[in-house]
Amino acid sequence: MRETWVVAAASNRYGKMKESGREAATRVAWEAIERSGLAPKDIGYTFVSNAFGVAERQAHVGPLINTSLGIPDVPSCTIESACSSSSAGLHEAFVHVAGGFADAALVVGVEKLSHLDTLASTSYFAMGADYAFETKNGATFPGLYATLADAYQHAFRTQPEMFGSIAIKNHANAALNPHAQFRKPISLDTYLNSPIIASPLRLYDCCPFSDGAAAVVVAAKEFVRTPKTEPLVIRASARSGSIGDMHDRPDLLGLPATRTAAEKAFRQAKMEPKDIDFLEVHDCFTIAEALALEDLGFYPRGSAARESLEGSTALHGRLPVNPSGGLKAKGHPVSATGAGQVVEIFEQFNGLAGARAVPKADTALAHNVGATGSSCSVHIFSRR
Ligand SMILES: CC(C)(COP(=O)(O)OP(=O)(O)OC[C@H]1O[C@@H](n2cnc3c(N)ncnc32)[C@H](O)[C@@H]1OP(=O)(O)O)[C@@H](O)C(=O)NCCC(=O)NCCS
Repeated sequence: MRETWVVAAASNRYGKMKESGREAATRVAWEAIERSGLAPKDIGYTFVSNAFGVAERQAHVGPLINTSLGIPDVPSCTIESACSSSSAGLHEAFVHVAGGFADAALVVGVEKLSHLDTLASTSYFAMGADYAFETKNGATFPGLYATLADAYQHAFRTQPEMFGSIAIKNHANAALNPHAQFRKPISLDTYLNSPIIASPLRLYDCCPFSDGAAAVVVAAKEFVRTPKTEPLVIRASARSGSIGDMHDRPDLLGLPATRTAAEKAFRQAKMEPKDIDFLEVHDCFTIAEALALEDLGFYPRGSAARESLEGSTALHGRLPVNPSGGLKAKGHPVSATGAGQVVEIFEQFNGLAGARAVPKADTALAHNVGATGSSCSVHIFSRR
């Protein structure tokens, strides 16, 4: 395998996009390629993620993006893995470049759903769960994650303030991030007084609906030679799956796919959790951040929400988690989310994170989940 780098990444501001998904995806792809110092003609393959493109009446958007980039002859394909779509795209790009099938590859994730109302978006998203057993019986993602939160609270006797501290921390970080949908810090009172969405989840436990686009350029070290940016060396690119529907899982106190993807990733990277400086994890709901930190091996079971309350995961805490603001507050444009996590790590490594710069950015881990954990990607990056 060839040493493979992320040589650039770019995204727009999440929230509500005026332009179409196709236009936004093309624009961020241009920005990422320009930042990388490569030319569009260097791209050997484009991996696009756009799980809900049909909501804009546009499927198969890859060739349209490539045509606008002036590279219509370059192959493309759509990679769908629910909320982990563009980290799955990154994995495919890594496999192609590290395996020598392309010298450079483009990963683009994009979603536009803001023209739909909450009911329509919720129904679209729920198609990523098990339709026959979950969705058809009325389960939605807030409901499914509420079940996980309920199990966790019951097992570990947690207090609402602990989950509140995750939301407060992520909103505080997002306030410093120009790419974020929400740029206003929240207080504990705001959190505690927000309406219940699916008990025990309150409004501020939930990620919002977001439009957004993010792009990542991956290239072989031997092809780039003199990088224009500080590249992220891809030390591990691991994916895993698990039983899709929640009722068949042996326990609800974690996501098995995160555990197996993390094991693979740390083995590939020859690293341990203590070697990681900061993390971008999949916090579609506050419970998901706590489960991620435990399943990835950073904290023992039942302790991550308490650690958050004690400030361990804050920007200047022992282990900064989601300096971008996470899905909770930066936003969650489903197919763009995995690539967007890499944008944050790229900006942290390149001194572009401004006031949200973490104290040390030599290594980082990105964790991206599809649905309630039926798919998971874990990437580990380091400086050269
Ligand atoms: C929580 C949720 C139901 C709220 O939707 P809603 O009740 O229709 O809310 P609205 O869109 O009408 O927004 C009402 C207000 O709340 C804010 N808001 C909406 N969702 C928010 C969230 N998740 N966090 C914080 N504020 C939120 C809006 O900005 C708006 O504020 P304003 O009045 O100041 O403009 C919705 O955001 C949701 O379902 N989120 C989860 C999405 C999801 O499941 N993703 C997949 C994860 S696997």
